[in-house]
Amino acid sequence: MTGSTAAPVDAPADPREPWSALPEAGLDLLFRTARSHKAWLPRPVTDTLLRDIFELAQFGPTSTNGQPARLVFVRTAEGKARLGPALHAGNVSKMMQAPVTAIIGHDLAFHHHQHRLFPHRDVAAEYRADPEHAHTTAMRNGTLQGAYLMLAARARGLDCGPMSGFHNEIVDAAFFAGTSVRSNFLCNLGYGDAAVLLPRLPRLAFDDVCSFA
Ligand SMILES: Cc1cc2nc3c(=O)[nH]c(=O)nc-3n(C[C@H](O)[C@H](O)[C@H](O)COP(=O)(O)O)c2cc1C
Repeated sequence: MTGSTAAPVDAPADPREPWSALPEAGLDLLFRTARSHKAWLPRPVTDTLLRDIFELAQFGPTSTNGQPARLVFVRTAEGKARLGPALHAGNVSKMMQAPVTAIIGHDLAFHHHQHRLFPHRDVAAEYRADPEHAHTTAMRNGTLQGAYLMLAARARGLDCGPMSGFHNEIVDAAFFAGTSVRSNFLCNLGYGDAAVLLPRLPRLAFDDVCSFA
């Protein structure tokens, strides 16, 4: 704890202060014991829970508050049948077994909402003038929002199984035809079967990938 004066008992805790930071068990849930799951327990995931994780994830930051991610939660047999042909063979059963498969896409025309989401500057004009910049921005921030979604899901006790082994153009034709939305990656959501997990693969060390400047 920093400072020498005790806070009043009813003062709201500052979540950035170390004494009120996420407990170790929360860090385990989000990172240290969380795995990428490939097999799923037959336990349903409600639409209410999906809405809840979205409501958490939407607070993650995006450039010019653009929020380009567009999500489809595929959880019906009809939806799964539409998604199936897009997947690489090794991913089909992982998707079919999962209670929900989220398609994480991004809207290349996300700037249509910028006047509402970032009203103090006309950034839509900047994106319109430079479509390549708009597309890069959509991809960058849509990817970030997909990551926020995975952490929100983990925070609510769900497991994730992200997958990029699929044909984006098939998913786009099946789910986003006639729109400016493009798929990025898929993420199975549910309660993973930890019994079939292989041991964790190594991570690169701080000194392998980080430097100071
Ligand atoms: C964007 C992305 C794409 C991935 N694509 C696949 C995939 O197509 N099939 C698969 O089985 N796993 C896929 N994975 C899972 C990774 O292999 C896994 O996250 C990584 O090996 C770390 O595993 P761990 O989280 O259990 O430690 C993907 C992960 C990410 C983040």
